[in-house]
Amino acid sequence: MKVLAIETSCDETAICIAESNGNKEDLIKVKILGNSLISQVNEHAKYGGVYPTLAVREHKKNLCPVLFDVLQSAGMFKKEKNNSSITNVEKYLSREKELLFDFKKEITNIKPPQIDAIAVTNGPGLEPALWVGINFARSLSDYWDVPLFGINHMKGHIISALFSDGAISSPSFPSLSVLVSGGHSELVYSKDPHSYEIIGETRDDALGEAYDKVGRILGLPFPGGFEVACRAETARKRGLSPVSFTVPMLLSNDLNLSFSGLKTAVKRHVDGFDGKTLDEDHICTISRGFEEAAVSSVINKVKKALQKYDVSSIILGGGVSANTYLQNTLKETVLKCDPDGNKKTYIPQKDLSTDNAIMIALAHIWDGKRAPASAESMKAESTLSLDETLNT
Ligand code: KG4
Ligand code: ZN
Repeated sequence: MKVLAIETSCDETAICIAESNGNKEDLIKVKILGNSLISQVNEHAKYGGVYPTLAVREHKKNLCPVLFDVLQSAGMFKKEKNNSSITNVEKYLSREKELLFDFKKEITNIKPPQIDAIAVTNGPGLEPALWVGINFARSLSDYWDVPLFGINHMKGHIISALFSDGAISSPSFPSLSVLVSGGHSELVYSKDPHSYEIIGETRDDALGEAYDKVGRILGLPFPGGFEVACRAETARKRGLSPVSFTVPMLLSNDLNLSFSGLKTAVKRHVDGFDGKTLDEDHICTISRGFEEAAVSSVINKVKKALQKYDVSSIILGGGVSANTYLQNTLKETVLKCDPDGNKKTYIPQKDLSTDNAIMIALAHIWDGKRAPASAESMKAESTLSLDETLNT
């Protein structure tokens, strides 16, 4: 089974082709035949955040080159005139004129690749950005006559954590997923491989968003997550004490999160210096204080979840899962709660923690055989919840 997966939910234009051996009991072998990604980070950096109109423009421009790159690495690129009807393509890409132009010029002149499915992120994410990927996927599906499937982006973040050494290994269930990205922060309980119950989520900013906002407050380049994390690490290595910030939601009994108050506390601290430029050591101690308060808050809720739910595995996913301090603190916490080491912790490999198309292909493969979506009625769902993908 070969799947071509498309991801455009935020500021990465990504496509991959993956091949799987079909569902096996506890190990699904997956070969990545081609993978390509164009990050728009440098474009958005000028605005200090992801700018939807710009994301749309870049996705439109990048999708065809990324597709060709993937087809070439998969050995599926062959020039050959294809006379299939483009009536529906013209309809699906009526709002993406530039993409339609590329489609007519380029895609009508290549041989349809031997693939069995097209999987596309249909939510959650930036709605206009999602639409570009969806309309491209609908067009390819119709033009090449290949079944189309919509994939929940957050499911992709969960399943990508299970992928290593060319295989998706099934965790023991029930599982607890800790999802921390730029747009979402949630705790998800899965009693079996295909059920997802959100048991806690952020009331305001996502963890990655908070990192990015703190990065901006500290005058660091966008996206701030990695920049803040590096400075926090420097402070720890050099023994610089963190600026003290209150750990959010410490006393709340539910499993929800909140990072906007912490971000405001960082801003107040910085504003207290009356526009004076912060020196590098001070930036490091603020970064450390922010990171340790934010991570403590997540870990506190993970501990509460582990008390309430008897889970057999813990899965970390989303862009912030690339954070080494969070990874280590989570692993230590799980070990403390389960000294015999029966609960396994899954963490995505570095290149799969932030957005990519491999995670979308993996989620499609994980879902196994099911009825395809209708290209005609597929929509972008910016607030698509994991709960809604229950048993799909
Ligand atoms: O999952 P993702 O690529 O995009 C969304 O689905 O939102 O996550 C991106 C987020 C950004 O906020 C980025 O700053 C953050 O992940 N991030 C990090 C690190 N690497 C990426 N945050 C903290 N530490 C990191 N090392
Ligand atoms: Zn993401």
